[in-house]
Amino acid sequence: MAERCWCLVVTLCGVLSAAAFGFKCDLYEGSWVYDDSYPMYDSSKCPHIRKEYDCIKYGRPDLTYLKFRWHPTHCLLPRFDAEEFLRKMRGKKIMYVGDSISLNQWQSMVCLLHAALPSQSNISQETINSTTTVTYEDYGVSISMFLSHYLVDIAEEKIGRVLKLDSITDGDIWKENDVLIFNTWLWWYRRGEKQPWDYIETGTKILQDMDRMAAFHEALTTWANWVDSDVNTEKTRVFFQGVSPSHYNGADWNETGVTNCAKETLPISGSTYNGGWPMAEKVVEEVLSSVKKPISLLNITRLSQLRKDGHPSSFNAFKGMDCTHWCVAGVPDTWNQLLAVALG
Ligand SMILES: *[C@@H]1O[C@H](CO)[C@@H](O)[C@H](O)[C@H]1NC(C)=O
Ligand SMILES: *[C@@H]1O[C@H](CO)[C@@H](O)[C@H](O)[C@H]1NC(C)=O
Ligand SMILES: *[C@@H]1O[C@H](CO)[C@@H](O)[C@H](O)[C@H]1NC(C)=O
Ligand SMILES: *[C@@H]1O[C@H](CO)[C@@H](O)[C@H](O)[C@H]1NC(C)=O
Repeated sequence: MAERCWCLVVTLCGVLSAAAFGFKCDLYEGSWVYDDSYPMYDSSKCPHIRKEYDCIKYGRPDLTYLKFRWHPTHCLLPRFDAEEFLRKMRGKKIMYVGDSISLNQWQSMVCLLHAALPSQSNISQETINSTTTVTYEDYGVSISMFLSHYLVDIAEEKIGRVLKLDSITDGDIWKENDVLIFNTWLWWYRRGEKQPWDYIETGTKILQDMDRMAAFHEALTTWANWVDSDVNTEKTRVFFQGVSPSHYNGADWNETGVTNCAKETLPISGSTYNGGWPMAEKVVEEVLSSVKKPISLLNITRLSQLRKDGHPSSFNAFKGMDCTHWCVAGVPDTWNQLLAVALG
């Protein structure tokens, strides 16, 4: 989805000067460029980064991955301005809803804001049930993370834990916010010990299992119907985050035989990715296009595919190979820059 933005003319000596064209430009089409003024914050000064994402703390030696800025081909993505963001969002409640990828993005946002605010700022944090909220009291802005792996419900019933593809009871909490950013995908193919449900309910049927992509499609459709029936989009801006890619298959970036991101220290240059467009992302885009109310896709899939270097690999508290989540600081900062522009 194209966003309006000021387009720029590149002049001599790399100096950029703004020209007020204002034709449509696609913020999600572009490439990564080296920029020594990045990252936007020092992660060692951001309290409470989850131990899965705190790559430098857990020994990541190469730091070039922090130095890349997303460069849309036909326009400039503005640097994140924390104070301006809080001023624009004054009095508003922002909530990320989804799995640990949402948590990744929420933490990045909290770090981006934390880094830019004076030390005497009045910031509070509390956790109630599944929701952690950081409130910037001076602005009345709150940023929450609601952990929900599937968006649809998991209910404890006599037969066991049932994943209910047609039900979203937490929606009553979500819709009280002014900005919602949804995401779900990671957990849909989990099986065995890692699968947090015993049965799956679709319509009136209770099954032991079903085609997982079909289940994902059905749950997203439930979500889409919920937006149309329950969310007042005059008050609440709704975003859905595109599928965040993993990097376990070197063939996706011309390194056949490589099975993880351990040796990756640079992004893919240019805009093309061998790995193709994820099936799940096609499902997301199809379902989103059926929503009648105005919603936005935060289309971060392609730009993140290019960042095979952005994952923790084994630089986390567990030393386990993780090419799914993202280092903070890192790629999720760009997702939040894009969110800030979209909220303009
Ligand atoms: C998302 O971005 C990709 C890559 O730029 C593009 O091919 C795709 O059409 C975009 N999807 C939507 C719904 O705009
Ligand atoms: C937290 O969860 C409990 C149990 O589901 C519920 O009774 C309570 O209202 C919830 N608290 C808030 C603040 O939502
Ligand atoms: C911080 O904000 C809270 C809630 O608005 C307020 O009660 C408190 O007095 C503030 N503290 C300071 C030091 O400003
Ligand atoms: C991968 O290799 C193909 C064929 O050699 C080439 O056309 C393509 O540009 C390469 N892609 C990347 C991302 O390096």
